[in-house]
Formats: sequence, C-alpha cells, structure tokens
Amino acid sequence: MKFAQVKAFPENFLWGASTSAYQVEGGWDADGKGLSIMDKGNHSTKNSDFKVASDHYHRYKEDVALLAEMGLKAYRFSLAWTRILPDGRGAVNQKGIEFYSNLINELLTYNIEPIVTMYHFDLPYALHQEGGWANRATIDAFVDYARVLFTHFGDRVKYWLTINEQNIMILHGAALGLFSEQGKKELYQQNHHMLVAQAKVMELCHTMCSQAKIGPAPNISSVYPAACKPEDYMAAQNWSAIRNWLYLDAAVFGRYNSLVWSYFTEKGYTPAILEGDMEILENAKPDFIAFNYYATATVAGSKNSTVSDRKADQQVAKDEEGVYYTEANPYVSKTEFGWSIDPAGFRNTLRELQDRYRLPLLVTENGLGAYDKLEPGDVVNDEYRIEFLRQHIEQARLAITDGVNLIGYCPWSAIDLVSTHSGVSKRYGFIYVNRDEFDLKDLRRIKKKSFYWYQKLIANHGTDLSGR
Ligand code: BG6
Repeated sequence: MKFAQVKAFPENFLWGASTSAYQVEGGWDADGKGLSIMDKGNHSTKNSDFKVASDHYHRYKEDVALLAEMGLKAYRFSLAWTRILPDGRGAVNQKGIEFYSNLINELLTYNIEPIVTMYHFDLPYALHQEGGWANRATIDAFVDYARVLFTHFGDRVKYWLTINEQNIMILHGAALGLFSEQGKKELYQQNHHMLVAQAKVMELCHTMCSQAKIGPAPNISSVYPAACKPEDYMAAQNWSAIRNWLYLDAAVFGRYNSLVWSYFTEKGYTPAILEGDMEILENAKPDFIAFNYYATATVAGSKNSTVSDRKADQQVAKDEEGVYYTEANPYVSKTEFGWSIDPAGFRNTLRELQDRYRLPLLVTENGLGAYDKLEPGDVVNDEYRIEFLRQHIEQARLAITDGVNLIGYCPWSAIDLVSTHSGVSKRYGFIYVNRDEFDLKDLRRIKKKSFYWYQKLIANHGTDLSGR
C-alpha cells in the first residue's frame, strides 16, 4: 500500500541495539561462572577464541559509554544463566548478580532502557547433563532462575524477554552449535517443556514485578510461495505454521497451532502433555512480542529446488518431504553469507504479526553480517550495513503507517561479537572490536561509519534516514 502521509515513529520509540552474553562477554569462567553448553559443546565458534569474545565482561563501562554516545534509548542483552546459577540451579553466585546489577545501573545512568533476555542459547552444562530440555525438571530450574532475576533486577528492568529464538533452537539447533542430535519427536518434547517454562515465567513476572513487561523472542519471518500455484501457497502456510505460528500461538493464545498439531500427529511427533500444562499455557499472557528478523523464506509444494547450498544454517530451511520444499527467491538479493536481504519482507512480517496477535511488537534483532575491514586511521567504512539498516528502518516506518504497533527496534549487534557459527570475522556491530579469530590483538573499540549514521538517525528520531 502506498501512503501520501507516512507516520512518524512513536514518541517513546525504543531505538536500541542487541547482544547476547556468550557472544560478547568473554570471562567464560570468571568470578565463579559455571560452564554452559556453549563453553563445553560442539560449538562452531570454537573456530575462534570465544572465551574472551569481545571482553565486554571487563569493559562494560567503556562499552555502555559508547552506546550512550551513539544515543541508544535501549540496550537488549542477555544474562548468562551460569553466571548467576553456576550449576543451573541451587546456589546463587553473588559475583554474577553484581556484574549484571552494575551493568543495569550503568545503563540507567545514561537513561538507556535495559531489555533483558533471560536465556539466549547458553543452557547450563550441568542441566544439559541431566537431559537439558528433554527433562521436565529443567522447567522448574528455569522458573527458579527467573525468580532470582526478578528478585535482584525486577526493581530496575522493565522489559524482559523469556527465551531467544526457541524456534531456531528446535529447527536449526546444529547450526547454533547446540547438542541437537535428537530426533524430531524428542525436540518437540523439549519444545513443549520450554513453552511451559516460558508460560510459568511470564506469570511469575506479572506476580513479582507489577511494573514490568515480558514477552517471547522467537525469530519470525514471512514465508513466500515460490509461484502463485495453490500448492506452493499451501506449502508456505505449512512452513510458516511450523516455523512461526507454533511458537507464538502457544505463547499468546496458550494453544497449539492446529495445522502443526495435525502435522505432529501425522509424523508421530506429538509431545507428551501432562495434566495442567495447557492451563499453564492459557493463563500466561505476554505483554508484547519481541522477535528477530533477518530474512524471508520461499518454499514450493513440490521439489524443483534451485537451492544448492544446504549446509547447516539457521536461515536456510531444509526440505520436508510432502510438507514444503525450499526455493531461492529471484526477487531479493543476498548477503555474503547467503541470507536473503528483504526489507519489504520485514514490513510484511510486521503486518502479519500485528494482524494475527494484536500485541505491541519489539524488534530485538535485525542486521547485516559482513567481513568488515579496518582501514588505516581507524576507519570502518560499512556503507553496506548503513544501506541494509536504512532500508529496514524505512520499511518499519511504513509498517507503522500500516497500523503496526511497533515499540522499538534493536538491530544486531550493538558491538562486534562472535557469530553463532562464523567466528569473529562475520561482523554485525556499530562498533568494531579489534581482534581476529585467535589473535586477540588489543580488543580496542572503533566506531564504524554506521555508528555515526545511527547516532544521527536516533537524534532525528528516524525522520531523516540519510544520516545527515
Ligand atoms: C540469531 C541469534 O539467530 O542470529 C544471534 O539470536 C546470532 O545469536 C544472529 O548471532 C546472527 O547469526 P550468525 O550466525 O550470523 O551469528
């Protein structure tokens, strides 16, 4: 739809940026931190030194000052469960509480709103050894962990995210470096446990922190039919239900998506649901939907594949016989890493979410991974990133004009960090961190061109996207 008048971003719009603990902090065993599956596992970032990552654990003050200089209104980051509860449950590590308390205070000093993810891929290894999410006891461990977080940070944190990209953990766990060799039935059982845990934690948040808001944080994207064939459209509905709606229908409506349930029944994937579970799901009410958006998907109803590169990747789906077949989209370009670049698809995704759930929406990731180059004189000329973000922000504004209740935009990533499976050299940040895969150099922070562009954009509240 074309509008003669494009609406402005809402007054209190949360212009932000994002990171996650294991990708940015380093200090992997500092001050009593326990080990997570990311520290122990078959994580592909072992191709680079992720024990130090961006050393944010030791440099958070300098980093927050830079975020403030950029003008951020919000900073979305995750807490390392194992910094707080080294064994996943039981004794609280006061040093971990102290670190996050200091970080939150530092942000608030600059009037930056903390948006806190409780769990971003880094399950405590101790819980993994007891079966991880396959074990129902992990539900209680997560609720107990949440209680600790609400007790210590609930007075200052107003925006909580439960689980980052639960859908990607279930569908593409191997690409993230999770221990994900289980069959789909077991994975969907784990998924059920996560849904119950999330619901319990949302309720607990409302009980313990009456001023706070909480929501899920899956990765959501529109799915296109490869052609206007009815069977392709149906395949797009199938993949969208399996990839997107399963997770949000459960979080928002407290029920399983009916199409996905039929798929489960057909394939033999139905999870065991205990008495009371569905009631727990129904009673939990998220205040908003946070979601990550990188790329749209395109699928067909029969095999005619143009997709040749099928290596493990969270944005490239694998075919599922009789359900959907992945196709390339000739109408969009791609990043150096093969992810489609689809700003209009971002608007489509926002519109779908608005229409389906009628909840405030918060974008918690969106960005461009690229091989940035540090040029003489400490210059990083990341024009391509500026263009990517500019186009997406433009579409966000159009989506607001469409009627979408968008409350914030937090691109990935605030600062360079370790990618889930492409090491340090796939960079996303506004701030360059001077290190290579194994050569830690001096880890100094360098403002990229996109830093100054975003700074200006925030200052003019997104009215001028050119960054002038
Ligand atoms: C999302 C994750 O899947 O995408 C982030 O929430 C991740 O943790 C981001 O880093 C980008 O993916 P990648 O593989 O390029 O690091």
